[in-house]
Parts: sequence; C-alpha cells; structure tokens
Amino acid sequence: MNVNGRHYRTIWLADDGWSVDIIDQTKFPHVFETARLGTPEEAAAAIRDMLVRGAPLIGVTAAYGVALAMKQDASDAALAGAYELLVKTRPTAINLRWALDEMMRVLKPLSEGERAAAAYRRAAEIAEEDVAINQAIGRNGFEIIRSIAARKPPGERVNILTHCNAGWLATVDWGTATAPIYTAHDSGVGVHVWVDETRPRNQGASLTAWELLHHGVPHTVIPDNTGGHLMQHGLVDIAIVGTDRTTAQGDVCNKIGTYLKALAAHDNGVPFYVALPSPTIDFRVVDGIREIPIEQRGGHEVSHMTGRTADGRIETVEITPRGSKVANYAFDVTPARYVTGLITERGVIAANRDAIGEAFPERLAEAQ
Ligand code: MRU
Repeated sequence: MNVNGRHYRTIWLADDGWSVDIIDQTKFPHVFETARLGTPEEAAAAIRDMLVRGAPLIGVTAAYGVALAMKQDASDAALAGAYELLVKTRPTAINLRWALDEMMRVLKPLSEGERAAAAYRRAAEIAEEDVAINQAIGRNGFEIIRSIAARKPPGERVNILTHCNAGWLATVDWGTATAPIYTAHDSGVGVHVWVDETRPRNQGASLTAWELLHHGVPHTVIPDNTGGHLMQHGLVDIAIVGTDRTTAQGDVCNKIGTYLKALAAHDNGVPFYVALPSPTIDFRVVDGIREIPIEQRGGHEVSHMTGRTADGRIETVEITPRGSKVANYAFDVTPARYVTGLITERGVIAANRDAIGEAFPERLAEAQ
C-alpha cells in the first residue's frame, strides 16, 4: 500500500540482496521508520518485541529468519536451531508454525550447499502467496460489502467495525480484514470504518487508523467499549475482524476483545465476519477455548501508555496506581456459533468443520 505516495510492503529483501528490511511498527503512529534484520536472532527479536506483528507477517518474518540462519550456517543443527529459536517467539498466531514447517519441508531434504538459496526463494514465495491470498479475500469480502451497500439509501456509506489491526501492516500487503474495505473504497463503494482502539497496545488507534488515513478511507477511532452502543443504534452494518488461529470447527482466536464484539453483534443482528487466510487455519485444533495457548504479555503494556506530547516528544506515562496488579491476556476465542461467515481466499464459507474441510481439503489431509 502507499505511504506518502510511495508503495511499501511490510517486509522486503534489502538492497544488499540478503538482509531483510521491515517497518518498525513499535514507532507508529507518529514515526515511520524501517529496521534491518541480519541474523535469525534479530528476526526472532523483531517478532517477540512486536516490531512486526499480525499473524501473516509473523509467519513471513519467521521464514526469512530461517533464510538468514541458512546464510550463516546451513547445517542440520543450524536449521533445527533456527526453527526452535523462531517458533518460541509468540505462541498464539499459527502462521508462525505453519511458515516454519513449510521451510523445514523444503529445506530438510536439500544438501547444505543448496539450502540458503532455496530458503530465500521459499520465503519470497510465502510473501507473494500472502499478497495473493489477501487480494482474493478482498474480492470475496467486497461482494458482501457491495450487497449491504445496495440495500442502503443512495449516498449512505456502509459502516464497518474492525478490531485490532488486520490491515496491510499485519500482512505483507492489503491486510485480511481490510482487504475487502480497500477493495470497496477503491471501487467507489462508500465505506466508513469504526476502528476499535484495541488496548493495551492500541493496534487499532495506532496502526489501523494510520493505514486508513494514508489510503483516504473515512474512519473514526473509538474506545474499545463503544461498539455495543453503536450496534444498538444501527450504526454498524457489518463487523470484519482478522484471526491469529482458526480451528477445524471454526472457532476464531483473535486479539483480546474480539469475543465481546461478536457477542454484541449477535445480540443486535449485525453480521460478524472473519477474514481468514488458509495458513491461519489450524486443523490440529478443534476446541479453540480449551486448546489454543493464549499469550500473556508483560503488565507494562497495561500500566503504561506511550504517546506524543504537545511539543512533539514521544513519552511513556504510567496510568495505573503503582501497587495495583494488572493482567494482559493478548487474545481470546470467539466460538464458531457467533461467526456469520469466514471470508477466505476460496470464497465466503460457514464457520464449521464441513465447510472448512471442503474448502481446504489438502490442508485437512495434511493434518490427518
Ligand atoms: O498481537 P498482534 O498485534 O500480533 O495481534 C494481531 C491480531 O490479533 C490481528 O487481528 C490478527 O493477527 C489478524 S492479522 C491479519
């Protein structure tokens, strides 16, 4: 997508031909800065410290992390070591393990001399596949937005609520939940996006809002607890969120707070869709609530906030009383029964085992 007239992806091969450049997402929304990854350890730190985040982008960064490792040392031990280092960085988003398994599948049978080139090749392919998947999600989700627009009085925008950042910054390009939004906007269908701020790390307020602003999509940032009220007053036509892991039966794990939005949508008859790229399906897991490990992050993210002061300085301030305990669960699970549909690259499907298995039979077979 464009940043000040220049096309960017979130990750690309640096001009030296082997290191990897990323956008440092910890600096948003006030500073746009890139960072360079030259070792698997730097790739792991970028994922762990959330310079890159969002399930699909975490997966692609891990794939490049393996490539960086193979450039240094392409032995079996180094390959296994890179896998172990990277797989431990974040526990919930399944794209991480999917991408690492994919790298192992391709690299393991090769000789040491072949591995580095093959690793860079497969990492680049995974990045390209992500872009193509998101574009297809955009086309499929656009049909839903277009049909809502057709039922609204002429000139009225479709109001879409989204949570966290499932935009192009969470992927290589286009985003998952935002792909239908960008496609609709670019096709001339009027949309307006309610952006949940998404405490504690504010991915909505600092990332989604920044993206939409740069692309010229009308949007309004709202505190996380506003969505239910808006739905009760007919101000939300559809909710579209992303996912970090979706189970074989269609339970959706996503950023903490997604479940509460799904409940509010259910109570108010608002369609609740999940944009789901196939690498985010975990066929080995059925019951999302019981089986998906939920990342718990440091309390500092809850007790402190960072922002820009009136004179332009970036400062972090404490917002809770010292001595109060805080909890920081990063994700929650929305049971499939609250999901109106899954917008995948192969079409919009029901959130149930049969529909998911029918749409992605090869993935189901792999897992069995
Ligand atoms: O903790 P994060 O910022 O990595 O969480 C990201 C989300 O929850 C996104 O909504 C999800 O990864 C889908 S991204 C296309």
